[in-house]
Formats: sequence, structure tokens, C-alpha cells
Amino acid sequence: MKLWIKQSCHRHSTKYRYTFTMKLLIILPVLFVILNTAQLQANDEAILAGQRAEPVTGKTAMVVTSHQLATEIALEILKEGGNAIDAAIAAGFVLAVTQPRSGNIGGGGFMLYSPSYSDAVTAIDYRETAPSKAHEKMFLDDMGNGDQTLSRFSHLSAGVPGTVAGFALALEKFGTMSLAEVLQPAINLAKNGFVVPNRFVEGIAARKQVFDKWPSSKAKFFKQDGSSYQAGEIFKQPDLAKTLQLIADKGAEGFYTGETARLIESEMQKHGGLISYEDLANYQAVIRQPVHGTYRGFDVYSMSPPSSGGVHIVQILNLLEQYPITEYGHNSAQTIHLMAEAMRRAYADRASYLGDSDFIKVPLKGLISKSYSQAIVKNIKLNRATPSVEIKAGNPQHYESPETTHFSIVDQFGNAVSNTYTLNFSYGSGIVVTGAGFLLNNEMDDFSAKPGATNAYGLMGGEANKIEPNKRMLSSMSPTIVKQAGKNFLITGSPVGSRIISTTLQVIMNVIDHKMNIQTAVNSPRIHHQWWPDEIRIEQGISPDTIKLLTNRGHKMVQKSAMGGSQSILVDQENRRLYGAADPRQSTSKATGF
Ligand code: DON
Repeated sequence: MKLWIKQSCHRHSTKYRYTFTMKLLIILPVLFVILNTAQLQANDEAILAGQRAEPVTGKTAMVVTSHQLATEIALEILKEGGNAIDAAIAAGFVLAVTQPRSGNIGGGGFMLYSPSYSDAVTAIDYRETAPSKAHEKMFLDDMGNGDQTLSRFSHLSAGVPGTVAGFALALEKFGTMSLAEVLQPAINLAKNGFVVPNRFVEGIAARKQVFDKWPSSKAKFFKQDGSSYQAGEIFKQPDLAKTLQLIADKGAEGFYTGETARLIESEMQKHGGLISYEDLANYQAVIRQPVHGTYRGFDVYSMSPPSSGGVHIVQILNLLEQYPITEYGHNSAQTIHLMAEAMRRAYADRASYLGDSDFIKVPLKGLISKSYSQAIVKNIKLNRATPSVEIKAGNPQHYESPETTHFSIVDQFGNAVSNTYTLNFSYGSGIVVTGAGFLLNNEMDDFSAKPGATNAYGLMGGEANKIEPNKRMLSSMSPTIVKQAGKNFLITGSPVGSRIISTTLQVIMNVIDHKMNIQTAVNSPRIHHQWWPDEIRIEQGISPDTIKLLTNRGHKMVQKSAMGGSQSILVDQENRRLYGAADPRQSTSKATGF
């Protein structure tokens, strides 16, 4: 095109050249807009062709969270010039108000951040820690058996919260706004209230028995006469507003020291909990290297220990990369068989090797190496399930020394945030800190109470994940960023315990192997295997024929409730187009872009 202009101009006079150039200057931008629009439309059409679900589209920025108010406020922050981190922290605090089942300041989580200007990805670890007085046998009864009421629904079940420290660190490192600014929307919503949706009402009703045990929890989640809030009514949280205001005024110290820290300590002392004022004052969020692997030419970044998520997503992808999954097809018996075989082996390794890498040596490089996966694949039979009793943790190379909610954001500068945080269960321990208005996590249950004991998600734990003072309990949370040619491509992650790893994995596979648009990738029926129980757990939507084929290969097939809540974004860098997919498994979730 450029060549043609040069040659054709060459034959004419200067005046003609001038007029011609002027015309071109006018025509070219118009042509560019027309062609570009046509290209975008063609691209959209290609994205939607043959797909069952349509993502939300945007050209500039995209936010996907599990709650409409969090999405809208984060988007507003972007529109006013804030970046993805500003929007993420605002959304995180709003979720702590509007979605108390998982949004939190009394829990912890992980965040991945990838700025547009470099291909570096930073991981922020704000996982809870065991209190300094925690010890290995704290959840064992006189007979040496794990006491699940203690590890899940008592003051002992709470780890030292990390969310406020993590958010403050992320904002200080990468944000452009102050804590007070990003907190303001959450404070307003806590003070003035918000209209509760059905999901909120049903969530509280499902946990009523737990809340009834604690006057502070009853007072927060029920009306003064003890009756329940109904959908459409306004829910206010004055104590929480005060606690958030202290953070706005004093920074993270406004939570980890002073009045709030004293309220947490006195709550613990009254009810046999272990978190002390010093534990709070000493809490530190940590910047870590994310796990990095490749899958069919894409770069996959996900969370490193104390999460097992990144290690096992990369490990399972390494195994599956050795098969022609695209050819085998989405959710075909052959694909599900191989996924289950890969998953059961990875979860067996998880039970043996994974824990807080500040306390134990995790053979991370070995577990995610291509050579380790090549060795494992030799033991996978193409047409027969290997019973889990026959699977033991593998032998990866060398130790080197050293209701959860997920949201994804891409800002107008191309920066991306992938964040998963949690209280562990829906509403955590169910215990509201008296006077401070927020729920405590029950994350201590993610430690192994004793070798071989399972946590609430049936995940087996061993020595590597035993309870030790100040240690972080092993997690499955997997905020993930996939890059294509060094640029942000897929921002994803999910809640729901052990199924976080398999859910995130399937969104990646659905996009890369099965060429689905992001909404179809998120919506599609999921499968899961975690070594023990020895079963493939499936969602509704896997055909009876497929189930029969898999049963004939020796798999136990079990259909249970939906898995995950993967709020995801896909970036089409070439056309600067953003596609947002809210997971329909969570009715309050919302994607919005501009
Ligand atoms: O860190 C973990 O792996 C779990 N505590 C996450 C819990 C969870 O995802 C609950 N989800 N709805």
C-alpha cells in the first residue's frame, strides 16, 4: 500500500502531489475507521460463531466480579482514570460489604498483577497465618481424631487475617489512589446499606444455625426482632463501616493495631481463640514469584505456594499437552478420561509435597517440569482408569532451596488483575468480631489436622501441611493470567476449594484447546478428580453415553452440584477487544466493560 502511493505520486507535479496527499490524509483515517470497524465486527462474529453463549464486549476496559455493585464501582474507578489495582482494591472492599459469604476483611487470598508495560507478573500473597500459639495437635481430640467443630466453627478455626495487608500492599506498590479513596464506596455501602438480592437471603438462611451460636453474628445478619432480611430490603452494617473507616484513616495499621486489633484479641480471649494483638501487628503480606509454565505456546502464570493452585494447573497442563486434546474433543470420554488421570496424579503429589514454602521445601521446579510430566504420562493408560489406590505421589526432581470469590479486571492501560480471596467456608467460621462487624475466616481447617486427615474439601494433607506457628495453610486458590506473545490474554480463576484448580484448568483448556469464546468456556459443564475420593465428579450436562463409556473404563462417575464461579476476561490484543464472562453459576455475578 505504502509502495503504491509512493510510485503513483512520483509521476505528478508538486501541486498535484500536495492535493493528492491532502485527500489521502482525509480519506485514510475514514478508511481506517471503516476497515477497523468491519474488522472488529468480523472478529466479534468469529468469536460468536457456533458458540452457545455471548460474552460482554468492551474496547477499553473490563471488570468481572461475583457481585453487580462491585463490578459497577470498579468500572467507575477505571472510567475516572484509576488503574486496575485501584479498581481491584475498591471491588475487594465492596465485596466485603455486599457479599459477606466470601468478600472479606477477616480472611485472606492471593492476587496476580500484570502491568501492560512489561511481561512480568507479580503475585501478592495475603494468605492467613496460623497464630503464634497454634500447634500441631490443636484440632485433635483425646482419641487423636480430628475435631471438625473446632477446626471449622470455633474461634480456633480462624487464621490471622491477611486481606487488609494484601490490599494495602498492592495499592502502595502498583495503585494510583489512596486507601481512603478506594475505601469510600465500601464505607458508604456499609453505612447507608444496599438492597439485598435473593442469593444473599438464601445464603444467610443456609447458615442460620451457625450464626445463632454467636450473639454478634445474630445481631449482624438478622433484624432486631430476630427475623430475616428479605430480598429487596436494605441491609446496613454500621460496625463494619466504622472498621473500614479506621483503615481509611490510618492505613493497614488501622486494622492490625489499635481498636480493631483489640476487638479481635478480646473476641479470642473470651472464646478460647489464639489470635493475639501481637499476631495481628506482626502480620505481613508477601510479594512472591508466580508459578510459570507453558501450554501449547501460551505462557501460564498462576499462584505459587502457599497455594497449590499454580503448581498443579501447570503440572496438569504439562500432562495434557502430550495428547491431541482438540482432536479428542470437549468433554468427550477420551478427553475426560485423560483429564481425570492427570488430575488424580497431580492431587496425589499435592498431598505429599505442597505446603507453605517458607516452612518446608516444595519441589516446585520438579513438579512443573516437562520432563516430570513425560515420565508420569508413561503410566497413564489410554483406555483404562488407574485406581487411586495404585497412585502414590510421584518422584519429581530436586528440591530447590529455597466461598471464596474471584474477580478479574483489565484497565484502559492494559494492566490486568486476577484476584481470589476467601473466608474458606461461606461466611467462614460464622463468627462476627463483636463491635467490629466482620466475619472471621475458618481457614485453619485447610491445614492437615494430622497426617492423612482430609480437610472440608476432602483434600488429604500430610507432614508438609501440618500446623506450625505463623505458618500459612495450604490453599488451592489459583488466580491466573495466561499470556500470548508476552501480552495479557486470559485472566481467570475461581472459588470452591479443591475444585478451583480443575475449574481454572478447564477454562484455559476450553479457550486454547476447544477454541471457545470466553463465555462458552466459562459456562461449559465441568468435571473434577482429586485422587480421593476415587471418582470423577461431574456437573449436569455430560451425556449419559459419555458417562457410560467412562464407567466401562473403570471410572466411578458422580454428578453433584455446580462447581466454581470463574469470573474471567479474554483480551484480543490484535484488535484491542475485551471479552468479559460472568459465571452464571453465581446469580449475582456481572461483567461490564467500555
Ligand atoms: O484456600 C483454599 O483452597 C480454600 N480455603 C478455598 C475455599 C473456597 O474456595 C470456598 N469456596 N467457595
